[in-house]
Amino acid sequence: MNNVIVTYETFHGSAKKIAQIISDKLECKCINIDTPFEAEDLAQTDTLIMVFNFRGPYTAQLSKLYLSRAGKQLKNKNLILVGEGLFSEKEFPIVAGEIHELAPSKAFKTYFVKGQLRVDTLFPEERALLKKFSELTGMQIVDMGQLDLDKAAEVAQDIEALLATAEFAPVKDASPESETKWICTVCGYIHTGDTPPEKCPLCGVGADRFKKQ
Ligand SMILES: Cc1cc2nc3c(=O)[nH]c(=O)nc-3n(C[C@H](O)[C@H](O)[C@H](O)COP(=O)(O)O)c2cc1C
Repeated sequence: MNNVIVTYETFHGSAKKIAQIISDKLECKCINIDTPFEAEDLAQTDTLIMVFNFRGPYTAQLSKLYLSRAGKQLKNKNLILVGEGLFSEKEFPIVAGEIHELAPSKAFKTYFVKGQLRVDTLFPEERALLKKFSELTGMQIVDMGQLDLDKAAEVAQDIEALLATAEFAPVKDASPESETKWICTVCGYIHTGDTPPEKCPLCGVGADRFKKQ
């Protein structure tokens, strides 16, 4: 069985709605990324699905923070990113690429769902952020978009099919990470792994200058 967790990062509830549609379909846990769910939950998870909203430079801030801490644990797991926003569909692959760099995973897939903006729900700091944006672009701050729940349902269905494929199958008996340490005899850099690195990331000397500890 593919053990799945859906996390979401939201300000006004749209990303949460999408996450719930996906977790209902997959019958799995749905967790606000605000809530600490560190070690055991992720250890038992084969596929982590992250739903986050676009929010200018603050996009996916908590999801990124979580992955920068837990990233290494995703090596033998699958990561699925669902971005939700008004107009950043084209920029989404860049954000997704940054996130995947924080947490290189076994299999990786992304989706984008169109969101919405309701002016009367904005927090004062969001108004300030959007005001700056509208001064730069000339865009008016008015009610915009309509959360695309049909697309969210399509995404849920697609993910369900994806999890049944060989690419997204759970890794059985993943071999434990190597504990062997190698020290660079030139600068003292320590590398952990079965073999020394091709090149020392600090001083640049080759693998032959590393000694097993
Ligand atoms: C302050 C602010 C900044 C936003 N920045 C972006 C953006 O850069 N790109 C985008 O596509 N949508 C942007 N949006 C639109 C949101 O992604 C959209 O309102 C989304 O539905 C909010 O999700 P939530 O309900 O989960 O908080 C922004 C909205 C706000 C309030």
